[in-house]
Amino acid sequence: MDPSSSDAPDGLAPSPAEAGVASWLRSATRVVVITGAGVSAESSIPTYRDKMEGLWASFDFRTLATPEAFSRDPETVSRWYDFRRTKCLEAEPNPGHIALARLEREIESRGGRFTLLTQNVDRLHQRAGSRHVVELHGNIIEWRCTTTGRRVAELPAPILEFPVASPWGGVLRPNVVWFGESLPEDAVATATRASQECDLFLSIGTSAVVYPAAGFIQLARAAGARTVEVNRDATPISGVVDAALVGRSGQILPRLVERAFSSKG
Ligand code: OAD
Repeated sequence: MDPSSSDAPDGLAPSPAEAGVASWLRSATRVVVITGAGVSAESSIPTYRDKMEGLWASFDFRTLATPEAFSRDPETVSRWYDFRRTKCLEAEPNPGHIALARLEREIESRGGRFTLLTQNVDRLHQRAGSRHVVELHGNIIEWRCTTTGRRVAELPAPILEFPVASPWGGVLRPNVVWFGESLPEDAVATATRASQECDLFLSIGTSAVVYPAAGFIQLARAAGARTVEVNRDATPISGVVDAALVGRSGQILPRLVERAFSSKG
C-alpha cells in the first residue's frame, strides 16, 4: 500500500489507505503498537526534537538526559525534569490516546491480545485507560532513590529544594531511562516477545531512530506481521512499512478505530 496523506485540510476526510488499515485492525488478533512523543504533542507536551521553550531554550535535552549530566549538576537536571513532570501532570490525554485505549478494549473483547509499547514517560496512555502498557523509557511521574533504588510515586508539590532529597538518604532522580543507560530488562523482554508474536504492528508518532525501541518493528516484520506507520512527517521507516498514514495521530487514530469497529462499519 502506498504512503498516503491522511491529513486532509478539514482534518476529517479519511484517505483510501485508512480503509485498508481499518480492515487490518478488524481482522488482527495480536496487535502491538509503539508510540513516541508525537502522540503526546497534541496534549501540548513538546516532542524531544522540538526546540525547548522559555527558561530552557538555551539547553539541549541530549545534554540533560544523561547520568553524567546528573552527576555533574544534579540541581539543573532535577529542575528540568520537575518542569517536565509538572507539564505532564497538567496535560490531558488527547483523542489519539483515547482511541488507543478503545482499540485495546475492542481487540480484547474479541479475544485478541493487545500490547502498547511506549517511549513516552508522561503516563498519558494509562490516564486515557490503556491497560497493557510497557514503559520502555520509564516514567517521569515516579522518581527513585539513587541509593536504594526504591521508588517514590508522588513528589512533594511544590519542590522547594533541588536536587530532591530521598526519604532514605541521598537524592531522588526521575525514574526514566537516560542516554547511555539500558532499558528495563522486563520491558524489553515483553516488547520483544509481543513483537515476534504479533500479526499487526503500528508505529505511531515516533521518529523511529532510537534503538532498541526502533528495532521492534523489524522483529514484527521478520515474523510476518503487517506494519503501519502513523506520523505527521516521513521517518526512516516510512518507505518500509505496509502502510504509512501521514498526519496527526489525534485525528487519524479516532477515525481509524471508529471505522474499524463502529457497528455501521
Ligand atoms: P521524537 O521527538 O524523536 O519524534 C516525534 C515524532 O512524532 C516525529 O517523527 C514527528 O514527526 C512526530 N509527530 C509530531 N507531532 C505529531 C502528531 N501530532 N501526530 C503524529 N506524529 C507527530 O520522539 P520519539 O520518537 O518519541 O529517548 O523519541 C524517542 C526517544 O528519543 C525518546 O524517548 C527520547 C528521545 O531521545 C530518551 O530520552 C532516552
